[in-house]
Amino acid sequence: MNILVLGDVVGPSGVKAVTEKLPGLIKEKKIDFVVVNGENAADGGVGITKKNTEDFFNAGVDVITSGNHIWDEKETMQFISKEKRLLRPENSIEPAPGEGLGIFNSKNNKKVAVINLMGNIFMKKSEDVFQAAKKFIENVKLKKDSDFIVVDMHGEITSEKMAMGYLFDGKVTMVVGTHTHVPTSDHRIMEKGTAYQTDIGMCGDYNSVIGMNRDNSLKKFFKDPSAKRHFPALGEATISGLMVTADDSTGLAKKVQPIIIGGSLQGRI
Ligand SMILES: [Fe+2]
Repeated sequence: MNILVLGDVVGPSGVKAVTEKLPGLIKEKKIDFVVVNGENAADGGVGITKKNTEDFFNAGVDVITSGNHIWDEKETMQFISKEKRLLRPENSIEPAPGEGLGIFNSKNNKKVAVINLMGNIFMKKSEDVFQAAKKFIENVKLKKDSDFIVVDMHGEITSEKMAMGYLFDGKVTMVVGTHTHVPTSDHRIMEKGTAYQTDIGMCGDYNSVIGMNRDNSLKKFFKDPSAKRHFPALGEATISGLMVTADDSTGLAKKVQPIIIGGSLQGRI
């Protein structure tokens, strides 16, 4: 069983790279289930539109996760309750429309549970993420309730994500961090068999400041009055994520492989 999780897709160049390259990647690597974090996919680099979700699903994405920018496009509040394949953080402050977790069918007819969590430190206010994770572990058991389990831990700081990795070790197939838009090189299988990477990076133009136009970002840091609202960099995007080969009998990871394709990070791994 091959599961691919792609990092935060940023703006039009990120969407273009994912929609153009994902179908070929699925065939080439025999990928059975694809998750992307899509909360930065809209043209402005924050939020996600219905059209973005359709483009991702047409390209072979099975589930879209998100985070702090989930509600930045007004229409998302309207369509999320009907689109179960788009998740908002499970520990969102209630009442939030939509779901933070679900059990989905893979391309090879296995059950894959996906939970979207959001960190508490330096992030939008949300319910205690560790309590939400604990509750999920009590309710959704690997092999009993789902063949495989994927955790997207959307957060700013590394320690919170690592602690989450240990909490889930042996209980889920993989835990990946998202949100920082920078891939870390600590991908591995932890002691009890869960695949882990602190951050899987972004699918976007790395010739930028975390996906946003670099000159404008610098102007903002210098408080230059001519600085505009952040807008995405539009150069060629790198696709960045983690592919995990999991064992059908245990649901745990056998192999981890970072996926880094195209754009300015090409050739790093
Ligand atoms: Fe984010």
